Amino acid sequence: MANYVYIATSLDGYIAASDGGLDWLMEIPAPGGEDYGYAEFMATIDALVMGRKTFEKVLTFGDWPYDKPVFVLSTTITEVPEHLAGKVEIVHGELKELTGTLNQRGYNNLYIDGGVTIQNFLQQDLIDEMIITKVPTLLGGGIPLFGTLDEPIKFKHVKTEIYDNGLVKSRYSRSS
Ligand SMILES: NC(=O)c1ccc[n+]([C@@H]2O[C@H](COP(=O)([O-])OP(=O)(O)OC[C@H]3O[C@@H](n4cnc5c(N)ncnc54)[C@H](OP(=O)(O)O)[C@@H]3O)[C@@H](O)[C@H]2O)c1
Repeated sequence: MANYVYIATSLDGYIAASDGGLDWLMEIPAPGGEDYGYAEFMATIDALVMGRKTFEKVLTFGDWPYDKPVFVLSTTITEVPEHLAGKVEIVHGELKELTGTLNQRGYNNLYIDGGVTIQNFLQQDLIDEMIITKVPTLLGGGIPLFGTLDEPIKFKHVKTEIYDNGLVKSRYSRSS
């Protein structure tokens, strides 16, 4: 049972430009279908918990990219587009309670996505593993991955993979 972050950031720690733009990420070539370990990671998770803003961004991509259930955190939307019925559920409430309920429903390994959403989980020390891929681009501003915390949270470095194009993927696991 674990909550995972799997995300790409700019060199200066942003997950999107200020307007939500992801061009700096999307323009990275994928030679020979290279996915930088994404499919392998996705195979390990049971469901995604995603912030409403990330959900709205994914909707602009066209085809729905997930074959796992997606739970969208929101206090402002209550319905999902018709074609996503049965695939997406809107949820809200206290995060510990929510993840407990999802675990009881058999969704044990959760992929937590979205900047504010990840920050909310971290504020409650509810993240077990973080796989962060650094893209060697400075955005100079944008939507940050991390925010403020009441107390430091310690992670153990598990491994780092360096790709030829300069992407650096590091895995961190919560330590005591
Ligand atoms: N670089 C990457 O790999 C990557 C990955 C994911 C996302 N992104 C980008 O990040 C941007 C979105 O991130 P973001 O930080 O702006 O927002 P976000 O975390 O995706 O969404 C924030 C929204 O989630 C809802 N939310 C979060 N915690 C909640 C809680 N405890 N209870 C109820 N609702 C909660 C709220 O929605 P309501 O306002 O509806 O209440 C909040 O406004 C997008 O541009 C996306 O493309 C990049």
